[in-house]
Amino acid sequence: MTTTVHVSRDASALAVGAGQVARAIANEAAQRQADVRIVRNGSRGMFWLEPLVEVTTPAGRIAYGPVQAQEVPALFAAGLLAGGAHALRLGKVEDIPYFGKQERLTFARVGRADPLDLDDYRAHDGLRGLHKALDMAPASIVQTVTDSGLRGRGGAAFPAGIKWRTALDAPGAQKYIVCNADEGDSGTFSDRMLMEGDPFVLIEGMVIAGLAVGATQGYIYLRCEYPHAHEVLSVAIATAYAHRILGSDILGSGRRFDLEIRLGAGAYICGEETALLDSLEGKRGQVRAKPPLPASKGLFGRPTIINNVITLASVPVILDRGAEYYRDFGMGRSRGTLPLQLTGNIRHGGLVEKAFGLTLRELLYDYGGGSATGRPIRAVQVGGPLGAYLPESQFDTPIDYEAFAAIRAMLGHGGIVVFDDTVDMAQQARFAMEFCAIESCGKCTPCRIGSTRGVEVIDRIIAGVARAQNQTLLRDLCDTMTHGSLCAMGGLTPYPVLSALEHFPEDFRRPAPAAG
Ligand SMILES: Cc1cc2nc3c(=O)[nH]c(=O)nc-3n(C[C@H](O)[C@H](O)[C@H](O)COP(=O)(O)O)c2cc1C
Ligand code: SF4
Repeated sequence: MTTTVHVSRDASALAVGAGQVARAIANEAAQRQADVRIVRNGSRGMFWLEPLVEVTTPAGRIAYGPVQAQEVPALFAAGLLAGGAHALRLGKVEDIPYFGKQERLTFARVGRADPLDLDDYRAHDGLRGLHKALDMAPASIVQTVTDSGLRGRGGAAFPAGIKWRTALDAPGAQKYIVCNADEGDSGTFSDRMLMEGDPFVLIEGMVIAGLAVGATQGYIYLRCEYPHAHEVLSVAIATAYAHRILGSDILGSGRRFDLEIRLGAGAYICGEETALLDSLEGKRGQVRAKPPLPASKGLFGRPTIINNVITLASVPVILDRGAEYYRDFGMGRSRGTLPLQLTGNIRHGGLVEKAFGLTLRELLYDYGGGSATGRPIRAVQVGGPLGAYLPESQFDTPIDYEAFAAIRAMLGHGGIVVFDDTVDMAQQARFAMEFCAIESCGKCTPCRIGSTRGVEVIDRIIAGVARAQNQTLLRDLCDTMTHGSLCAMGGLTPYPVLSALEHFPEDFRRPAPAAG
């Protein structure tokens, strides 16, 4: 009898030796003449347990981790293939609270199914959304997405249905679907995990988007720093063409959708949708003034939907299970689930997909298990490099777009970076301003010049030079950046800077470092 063993092919698992573990399992099985099939799945998102090995037994998938290659012979000796007892045995994955308590809609298959096996994709409910969409009028697909309450997961949280409606209504023989897979925010990796762990769901979501708005060509704009995602997506796209999920006759319907990958060279600003379009057109990525919105006049001047990976990958389950099913998760105007990413100084880093509404504190302690160093958590930055630094007093804020906006913060792409009490928040404020100075596209003055001056002002505060006057100057400068910048890069950099100043003022009053 063949025993199936899962070892992740996710970059996070490969980085800690999953490739060697898979080879060691194959070697050991060959030596013992054991009939083993190794499946390279996506990660379950519990990074502290990688490399995670899962063995399929009559009692379910039994996990072991973190496994090192040299431990494989001992694991076999302990009866690994039958789920035998061993110090690394974790039991059924679903029984690990970190995983079992999640609500996985978008990531339902990640870690469970073989990412590159289309039959496995089908066996795990894949393509059901597309089949339904093929029987629907474009306007009712758009209406379903609108009714689900899905908002863009790339950062701005704009309602997906409204954007799709604009593109549907825009006249034009050629329209485009662009997937934003630039994933530039610090502490984020959900796009990467999804693309490596379930590429067909993204392809399916993009085909549905094409059917909804009348677009026949799609592009995935992928950052070049994601070689594993590139490899998996390339194979999955070729498979999708071979099985007529892509091409001129989608599942025998006579409808067309083509899809290509374009690699970005790694500029943060190329994640901003209009700079991304410039980059896709072969130009230097610079922000365009809006209007016109890309949905009316986007790539090559044509109506274009730009959505984040997670937004598009959430569409198949909405079409399959219905708008009400999806919108039943969440709170207020934040409907459905958000794949949250826990990183930085945290004991249990990884991916947690939950309905909106749980608090930051629950995430940090119930899931994250507190800081990795065991010291008190002093600050967390939520929403990437443009997100605010939140102090302990704000940890009870629910994960909800409006609740975060009310405390002058943002959820962004759901990345959460944790700092313990050794952090110097004045240095973090400087880092945020310097990031803007380095990554600014240079189009508008408040951002291009303001961020450089901002670093100088913060340096003077840290050095103890006329602190009160320089703090006033810094606030003025932030005000100008907020109101005068063309895009959110310059417009939101004041969030981390001013939140550090507001919540951690003592760090801006430390004795100046000794000269020389
Ligand atoms: C400076 C900057 C960087 C951005 N980077 C990304 C990114 O890496 N990925 C992404 O999906 N959206 C990013 N965005 C948001 C996009 O401009 C856009 O709102 C998004 O792709 C729309 O898709 P959504 O509605 O599905 O979120 C960025 C925005 C700004 C201002
Ligand atoms: S705010 Fe910065 S990144 Fe945005 S358009 Fe202006 S210069 Fe470019």
